[in-house]
Amino acid sequence: MTSATNLEGKVAIVTGGGRGIGKAITQRLAEAGANVAIASRKMDNLKATAEEFASLKGKILPVECHVGKPDHLENLVQTVEKEFGPADILVNNSATNIGQGPSLDVTDEMLDKMVEINIKAALRLMRLTVPKMMEKKNGSVINIASIAGLRPQPGGLLYSFTKAGLIMMTRTWACEFGKSGVRVNAIAPGLIQTDFSEFFWKNEAHVKKLEAVQPIPRVGKVEEIGGAALYLTSDDASFVTGQVFVIDGGATAM
Ligand SMILES: NC(=O)c1ccc[n+]([C@@H]2O[C@H](COP(=O)([O-])OP(=O)(O)OC[C@H]3O[C@@H](n4cnc5c(N)ncnc54)[C@H](OP(=O)(O)O)[C@@H]3O)[C@@H](O)[C@H]2O)c1
Repeated sequence: MTSATNLEGKVAIVTGGGRGIGKAITQRLAEAGANVAIASRKMDNLKATAEEFASLKGKILPVECHVGKPDHLENLVQTVEKEFGPADILVNNSATNIGQGPSLDVTDEMLDKMVEINIKAALRLMRLTVPKMMEKKNGSVINIASIAGLRPQPGGLLYSFTKAGLIMMTRTWACEFGKSGVRVNAIAPGLIQTDFSEFFWKNEAHVKKLEAVQPIPRVGKVEEIGGAALYLTSDDASFVTGQVFVIDGGATAM
């Protein structure tokens, strides 16, 4: 067994690793020694993050990748295998959030796009990486879900249902892959301050309401997610699979 925080020799893929929660996860994994491929559409942003983290123990590899495009996902995995070797850790973090509003206004196009980015990309990346983890009898997959996947959000049907789908994928994969040494867990954040969620944390009334009821009365920070991801990839979590780690300042405790 390696020490809890030592990921030297491990290879990780973090989608959306160039900013927000994915960037915080990338930092923790690379600090622990993992070589981390960060993948998303905007190469400038990925390169800036790779430069910022250049002094960390693990290397950072930026790879341009639209997670809704199967050929991009194949290229991502091939590039990672060529540069670093097969992935030991997969963090499905990239997501989109279109089609907010009444369910009656949701179109087929909105539904397809949300499923493509938030669900199919995770399934496709799992198929491309997990078989090699199974060969090594060791691997960790983390799906970044949301508390919106645990309870309904009126006006947020597509986001809630894709995140709920990701949670059920997590549990199903955990059951299927456990014997092969591959653990699968989800992290379900509450409101965390990133570009993605600015609609909520820039809304004074929304934040006031949150502060009035949430046991830890503030918006979360990305660093408060990174440590959980590090734990889930580490040997400290060797008996943990199929779980949803809720990090929400107690929002769902109420
Ligand atoms: N912030 C919150 O309050 C909160 C709460 C619960 C769950 N989450 C979840 O946390 C995860 C990260 O979100 P965040 O808050 O950190 O937001 P963020 O800072 O806006 O990051 C979103 C990431 O997804 C990537 N992305 C979006 N569409 C993509 C595509 N088609 N292909 C590849 N990458 C794509 C973006 O990169 P590019 O633009 O370069 O493609 C970006 O790196 C998401 O799964 C989100 O649902 C966030």
